[in-house]
Amino acid sequence: MGRLISIASGKGGTGKTTTTANLSIALGKMGYKVLAIDADLTMANLSLVMGIDDADVTLHDVLAGDAHIREAIYATSYENVFLVPGAVDWEHVLKADPRRLPSVIKPLKPEYDFVFIDCPAGLQMDAMNAMMSGEEVILVTNPEISCITDTMKVGIVLKKAGLAVLGFVLNRYGRSENDIPPEAAEEVMEVPLLVVVPEDPKVREATLEGVPVVEYAPDSEGAKAFFKLAEEISRIAGLKAKVIG
Ligand SMILES: Nc1ncnc2c1ncn2[C@@H]1O[C@H](COP(=O)(O)OP(=O)(O)OP(=O)(O)O)[C@@H](O)[C@H]1O
Ligand SMILES: [Mg+2]
Repeated sequence: MGRLISIASGKGGTGKTTTTANLSIALGKMGYKVLAIDADLTMANLSLVMGIDDADVTLHDVLAGDAHIREAIYATSYENVFLVPGAVDWEHVLKADPRRLPSVIKPLKPEYDFVFIDCPAGLQMDAMNAMMSGEEVILVTNPEISCITDTMKVGIVLKKAGLAVLGFVLNRYGRSENDIPPEAAEEVMEVPLLVVVPEDPKVREATLEGVPVVEYAPDSEGAKAFFKLAEEISRIAGLKAKVIG
């Protein structure tokens, strides 16, 4: 049985899409069958980050009732990794009903080892529907106090709603000398720190090339961190642990 994992944060731009793409590809390389879903309905960009820009049918068509989810699943050039892209034009955004996200996404669980849901930031309706399509959640934050507290709030809400919070990714660490150190961040977040991803120009360069950093520069510090995250996520069975515990 697969796992449905939402990738979420309080503030925008923390690295959710980057984490979704790199984690998916890293787990694919480990032999797991992975589906990455772009559930950021108003600002879809996962397919660009993963190098697919010619999708005909998208998640938006499914949420508008114009297509079946199977028509919106694409094989990628990455081993074992499949993608559900979103549309970028506003007409499609207006027609897509975000409330249908959970009922569209949850049935995909048995067919993949991992389904990752790239969510919009915050706690608005679009974000809530995307996040609630998962059963587990990985939070992504940057090492700034307002960013950490906002992400913590999202974690609290999702935990109350019944999701298993696996922990958080401390992304873009080392950009400023005022960065909150990992131990302090973990204390504030009150959930496990999964990995520290350093600020790495290779990550941004990779994004611009449309090839995530684990493929673009696998020996870079950024890529190494995402490989470590993949190991960690495959090791901890969040929901199972919760059910047994
Ligand atoms: N570790 C890193 N080092 C350097 N740049 C990074 C790192 N992580 C992410 N970035 C860059 O930060 C920008 C924002 O990342 P990303 O799009 O993944 O964030 P997001 O949380 O999905 O944003 P949004 O909330 O808008 O969806 C991108 O240009 C990305 O390349
Ligand atoms: Mg994003």
